[in-house]
Amino acid sequence: MNVRDLSYLVTCLKASAVNSIQNKVVILTGASEGIGRALALELAQLGCRLVITARNLARLESLATELEALGAEVVVEPGDISVQQDCQRIVATALAQFGHIDIVINNAGMTMWTRFDQLSNLDVLDDVMRVNYLGPAYLTHAALPHLKQSQGQIVVVASVAGLTGVPTRSGYSASKHAVMGFFDSLRIELADDNIAVTMLCPDFVLSEIHKRALDGEGKPLGQSPMQESKIMTAAQCAQQMLPAIIHRERQLITSTRGRLGRWLKLFAPQLIDKIARKAIQSGH
Ligand SMILES: NC(=O)c1ccc[n+]([C@@H]2O[C@H](COP(=O)([O-])OP(=O)(O)OC[C@H]3O[C@@H](n4cnc5c(N)ncnc54)[C@H](OP(=O)(O)O)[C@@H]3O)[C@@H](O)[C@H]2O)c1
Repeated sequence: MNVRDLSYLVTCLKASAVNSIQNKVVILTGASEGIGRALALELAQLGCRLVITARNLARLESLATELEALGAEVVVEPGDISVQQDCQRIVATALAQFGHIDIVINNAGMTMWTRFDQLSNLDVLDDVMRVNYLGPAYLTHAALPHLKQSQGQIVVVASVAGLTGVPTRSGYSASKHAVMGFFDSLRIELADDNIAVTMLCPDFVLSEIHKRALDGEGKPLGQSPMQESKIMTAAQCAQQMLPAIIHRERQLITSTRGRLGRWLKLFAPQLIDKIARKAIQSGH
């Protein structure tokens, strides 16, 4: 095969991937900011029909205007993912508008930034667990009968912090381990229903999450402790996630250190601890 044939083949494969996701009905949480917003823009360009949700209605409506300008069909349904009734309403809205659901992307999330021995407000642990673990479980439960009908897909934006411990993020890391354990279990339960479960594990990404991270008293930090010029943008992250979603892959880890860390954890776990400590100390 010559270079021209190869490039034709790549173009055909890309086109068929686009076709496979075109017109899919996608519920996307955490769409008002960061990675979710970037994913919405990518999915709109691929012709997905979107139900976008988060708590900030104004941000969602402004995004909807951008998505519609790209030619996408969009519904805005605000809600708090940690509230079961809100999750049921989001699913009902998707069905009322589009009649079925193909993909649920559980992206909404929050974090903390404090050592456990400096945590004075233990509600932080509850909040992080509710949003990062229970929220995806609630929404998925409400959507599950419809995903069975469509033989659809559940996507979860987890984190490399769901694969290994991270200092100053103990509660966050716990919530991401929880969500990964939950959906890895669900994948096995749902195998006969032909529902794909795709776990996406980003490393540091430039977004609002670092400024909004809760400190030891449960207040947002207000400014990002990250070296922002050295981490991937939300748009780059979304572009990396897209093929994994389109091809219904099992798992994506976005960084080399994250992928390497899987092996280090087995054979030299103290090394992955050092990498995690250094990443937090250096902010990238
Ligand atoms: N950025 C990173 O470095 C990084 C790394 C690994 C994994 N992740 C994961 O990526 C996902 C997206 O994070 P991001 O970095 O894009 O953060 P972000 O910019 O702070 O966006 C978080 C989104 O989640 C929504 N959200 C938060 N709490 C919610 C709630 N209770 N109910 C409904 N929506 C809620 C927010 O919208 P409202 O405030 O309008 O509700 C916002 O749209 C999260 O699951 C995060 O853990 C991020």
